[in-house]
Amino acid sequence: MADGFRLALAVLGLALLGSQEARTERELRFKPAPQERPVRLFTESELARYNGQEEDQPIYLAVKGVVFDVSSGKEFYGKGAPYNALVGKDSTRGIAKMSLDPADLSHDTTGLTTEELQSLDETFNNVYKAKYPIVGYTAQRILNEDGSPNPDFKPEDQPHFSIKDEF
Ligand code: HEM
Repeated sequence: MADGFRLALAVLGLALLGSQEARTERELRFKPAPQERPVRLFTESELARYNGQEEDQPIYLAVKGVVFDVSSGKEFYGKGAPYNALVGKDSTRGIAKMSLDPADLSHDTTGLTTEELQSLDETFNNVYKAKYPIVGYTAQRILNEDGSPNPDFKPEDQPHFSIKDEF
């Protein structure tokens, strides 16, 4: 009797275990994939093509490694416009320092002051992220120095734009 009871318990236990396993498998199989969108990576020379010199090309400008389509700001960035020097490249340093000096038109933030870094973040968030759609990221932002993918890379949130994939 006691043996029969133990056996029944064991069978019940196995059945429960089995259903638990089946459920876990089901959950794993049907769990929706994380919302990951492919992102476009720009090399320096690729980004340089979108420098506003050609009428029918979009105009791109990168800040902090994020590539924005600034074509709607043609009066600032187009051919012959006052800030044309900033486009077709990552101009983080120039934007932080409010400088159009060619030596400042780079992604390099070495030695920037706290105020300049703060001003950079303000312009990044309140001008670029607010006004212009993100179209990709520079290699510096996505890859490690040895060219391997940087596992810490996270695309920026820009919920007020619905961005078309171009690739
Ligand atoms: C005499 C000096 C300058 C004056 C009078 C000036 C004036 C202006 C004006 C009137 C705007 C337009 C604001 C708007 O309509 O939304 C603007 C925007 C801007 N300025 Fe200047 N600016 C000067 C120098 C500079 C310099 C040296 C830089 C270097 C990076 C710079 C970077 C910008 C940027 C990034 C914007 C935002 C453009 C956009 O909305 O896409 N400015 N500036």
